[in-house]
Amino acid sequence: MSETDRDMDYGDYLQLTALLGAQATRTAEHDELLFVVIHQVAELWLKLSIHEIRSGRASIAADELRHAFKTLSRVARIQAHMIGAWEILATMTPTDYANFRSSLGSSSGFQSFQYRELEFLLGAKDGRMLDLHQTEPARGALEAALRAPSLYDEALALLARRGFAVPADRLERDWTQPYVPSPEVEAAWLAIYRDTDRYWDLYELGEKLVDLEYRLQQWRFSHMKTVERIIGFKRGTGGSDGVSYLVKALDRKLFPELLSLRTTI
Ligand code: HEM
Repeated sequence: MSETDRDMDYGDYLQLTALLGAQATRTAEHDELLFVVIHQVAELWLKLSIHEIRSGRASIAADELRHAFKTLSRVARIQAHMIGAWEILATMTPTDYANFRSSLGSSSGFQSFQYRELEFLLGAKDGRMLDLHQTEPARGALEAALRAPSLYDEALALLARRGFAVPADRLERDWTQPYVPSPEVEAAWLAIYRDTDRYWDLYELGEKLVDLEYRLQQWRFSHMKTVERIIGFKRGTGGSDGVSYLVKALDRKLFPELLSLRTTI
């Protein structure tokens, strides 16, 4: 232990002065602190989720599935926590929110670059979203995630390495474009789900991915319903139609063949 380490206490290590000094509210309204804290906490969980998913993607690429499973299980726990957080926000009534909403200007979760990076990492690519992010570090992080293969792209490369007939244009493509579902990929997953003893680790991977998408959808759905009960059908501060935009966002799919195979099985 160095001299500096011995002098370091809890507050120093966690940089609590910076962290706890970052909840500046713009009004004296009681509920604004809840609003700021819930967003900041969500951004911290997003930061950790991105860190874990990047690691899970690298483990899949390195054929280290047990490492990837550990990581994806952790992400599922983070997601459960983030879903539970809507219960706290739902204690804020429309009246409480209306008291300070005008002080937000045009700021909106729509501009959360970490949320968009998470979507890109998982495979929901949409290059148009970059327009919202011209400054660093948002721009660089998002461009890198857009250009890189997603978690699902790495899972499909793994299936190909294991001998499944994944079409060449799904293995080598322009990663900035959204993934288009393929009947051959569905057939590969179907073979895995029909012979689980033989392909147990790939089957487990498939279910971990489905779990991840399922929870992301639960988070999106709870966001949409919480927004509905707080602002009804007003337009969003970010300029969208509000709730109807959030309903459409539920259509952004991640791992399409893993869902479609369930109709056939
Ligand atoms: C009173 C609470 C909230 C309201 C009224 C609200 C409202 C909205 C609305 C209307 C949108 C659509 C874009 C727009 O026009 O602004 C949106 C998007 C978004 N919000 Fe919230 N939100 C709330 C809380 C949160 C919280 C706590 C988070 C956590 C980080 C969050 C994250 C997001 C994200 C990531 C998007 C983009 C979704 C997408 O593009 O698919 N929101 N929000």
